[in-house]
Amino acid sequence: MEDIYNKCVEAAEYIKTKFDAKDSIGIVLGSGLGELAEEIENPISINYSDIPNFPVSTVEGHDGKLIFGKLNNTNVLCMKGRFHYYEGYDAQSLTMYVRVMKLLGVKSLILTNAAGGINNTFKPGTLMVIDDFINYMGINPLRGKNIDEFGVRFPDMSKALSPELRDLADECGKEIGIELRHGVYMGFMGPCFETPAEIRFARIVGADAAGMSTVPELIVAKHCSLPVLGISCITNLAAGMTNKELSHEEVQEVANKVKDQFKNLIKLIIERA
Ligand code: HPA
Repeated sequence: MEDIYNKCVEAAEYIKTKFDAKDSIGIVLGSGLGELAEEIENPISINYSDIPNFPVSTVEGHDGKLIFGKLNNTNVLCMKGRFHYYEGYDAQSLTMYVRVMKLLGVKSLILTNAAGGINNTFKPGTLMVIDDFINYMGINPLRGKNIDEFGVRFPDMSKALSPELRDLADECGKEIGIELRHGVYMGFMGPCFETPAEIRFARIVGADAAGMSTVPELIVAKHCSLPVLGISCITNLAAGMTNKELSHEEVQEVANKVKDQFKNLIKLIIERA
């Protein structure tokens, strides 16, 4: 995809005709969290398909809408439904929204996802603040000519996840009595779940959770200096850790069970971010 910068600008200009998202908080709702979008007050929503150059989401349980409005008196710009590499998008298209948010003046970005627990002390329903990540997806959204308008050719990925936002998540978790864990998210390409051998490998190299999203977005957010927080809902123990067959239904079921907790946490973080 040549000319990515202009494509992002065009998308941002279109969105600016609908609302002003400057200083709002960007949020991406992963599996099971879509409901939070219904709590947005005075929502203005735009279908992804109406935004110039935007890819369109296709996964079951993911609606493709950009929604702007207020949550807990704070302006939010919410991606209801995200793009995954396994759906067939290239790494640059699926992360384009992060850059568009940057152009719109979004202050910080909160990414949520469902993930498989690799850390033996995690249980289904554990919420994990992403401290760091391992890019095992075999792709990098920054490949190709660097877009200097967004950031440097060789961005530093230490502190890719904002330390301030991670602290804030802890503070909010404590306040509402939710035990938050921290860990390393390892991004796999998907769409198949990992093999037990891959999960053993992932544990050895230091991963606490496995997922099929988020890593490309984290890279792009850091590249364009958009402070980002990532929280994973551990929906299952990863492959080989139980006798249970892994399924998307189980992922959605567990995500659904913790959604109220998750929603309350995100709402408080948004208010204070
Ligand atoms: N692996 C990868 N992605 C996931 C998983 C998993 O076990 N659970 C939810 N998303």
